[in-house]
Amino acid sequence: MITTKKLYIQTFGCQMNVNDSETIVSLLKDLDYEQTDRAAGADLILLNTCCIRAKAEQKVFSELGRLKSLKNGEKKVLLGVGGCIAQQEGERLLKRVPYLDLVFGTHSLHLLQDMVRAAERGERLTRNDFLDPETRLDLFPRKQAAGGVARFVTVIQGCNNFCSYCIVPYVRGREVSRRSGEILQEIRELSETGVKEVTLLGQNVNSYGIRSVDEPSFSDLLRRVAEIDGIERIRFTTSHPKDISPALIECFAELPKLCSHIHLPAQSGSDRVLEGMNRGYTRREYLDRIAALKKSRPDITITGDMIVGFPGETEEDFNETLSLMEEVGFTDLFSFIYSARPETAAAKLPDMLTRKERQDRLDRLQERQHFMTLERNQALLGSIQEVLVEGPSRRGDQVFGRTSGNRIVNIAADPSLIGTIVTVRIVEAFQNSLIGEVI
Ligand code: 5AD
Ligand code: SF4
Repeated sequence: MITTKKLYIQTFGCQMNVNDSETIVSLLKDLDYEQTDRAAGADLILLNTCCIRAKAEQKVFSELGRLKSLKNGEKKVLLGVGGCIAQQEGERLLKRVPYLDLVFGTHSLHLLQDMVRAAERGERLTRNDFLDPETRLDLFPRKQAAGGVARFVTVIQGCNNFCSYCIVPYVRGREVSRRSGEILQEIRELSETGVKEVTLLGQNVNSYGIRSVDEPSFSDLLRRVAEIDGIERIRFTTSHPKDISPALIECFAELPKLCSHIHLPAQSGSDRVLEGMNRGYTRREYLDRIAALKKSRPDITITGDMIVGFPGETEEDFNETLSLMEEVGFTDLFSFIYSARPETAAAKLPDMLTRKERQDRLDRLQERQHFMTLERNQALLGSIQEVLVEGPSRRGDQVFGRTSGNRIVNIAADPSLIGTIVTVRIVEAFQNSLIGEVI
């Protein structure tokens, strides 16, 4: 008799981790673990972790603290930590948290099944070696295709940019582009299960394929994805402003399936700060790319990331960030207080800003952005939009989907519309979503 065991997995951080968690769930299915949404009662508890900012890391450690009581109960429960903190801390984590059973880094998913079996036998173990690019390509496990309407597909992992504040290159390793044949095959299979939209995913998708003569460039990859029947919408994230090529910008004019949205993190509007961040572009260059994108696709919406309080950021630098926001007209912005990360170059810079100064800048930036986001949503009132319906919305009697420009629209309509593109008129606009009526 096969007894199914229960796996509880909690995911912190970015879409890459969400994606890895899907892989983990499908790998552990082979070991008869079935996913549950409650930690209590699970046989195996995994935290897939993030350390991009100190706060993200603290969240994981407080969750580990909460989970301790489950480990002390009558039932045998295995507890594991994966992802970016696991990659960074490795063995140290096993020492620091005595009730932890396994620690597996970002390059160790292919070892996870064996590790769980060993943990079931009572071993405590860590794996956090980096793989060389070739092995990584060969070993990287594929997740099983499973329905849905809009899905993420990894095209490149890791990062070579070493922005001075960022820990990602240290915990995700160097850039490796996935083979295009495999990517296209995965998307064809997704399409066959009814998927209509794919988001090509990577820390820096613009570098896709540049290290291999045999692989297409990112813009060529987009063109090939656009040829796949059944896929009606294509998105990608994240782009680095310094690497966004004229050919990629041209795709927005050429490919109707490519959605009218780009996430293009600016991080700062000040040249001095951008240089300190090692971003590889100036304010002018960033704005020129935005202008070229708007020329290629006039209705494109632009979102971004911004960091406030980078070491040495002056009030004048910060004002440059605010003025960049005005010039670009971001529809939405993810903004963060600078957080010094171990190993990074910026962590060694002299840092005079107080917590209060940083918080104050963040508050001002966010207040301005909230206003701009609302204003942009309100500008859509009365407009006609195409919405790909993705699922039932949190309010039971509605469905939700997104516009090509990536705005969320709730619609009072029948769930049978899920998976189709419907034409709606926007009748209400809020901060985070719109309401549409089918016409
Ligand atoms: N402190 C604050 N924000 C950071 N980000 C990355 N590293 C840090 C850091 N050390 C932000 C950047 C990036 C986003 C994913 O997280 O804005 O684009
Ligand atoms: Fe971090 Fe910069 Fe790489 Fe983005 S491009 S993951 S911010 S190092």
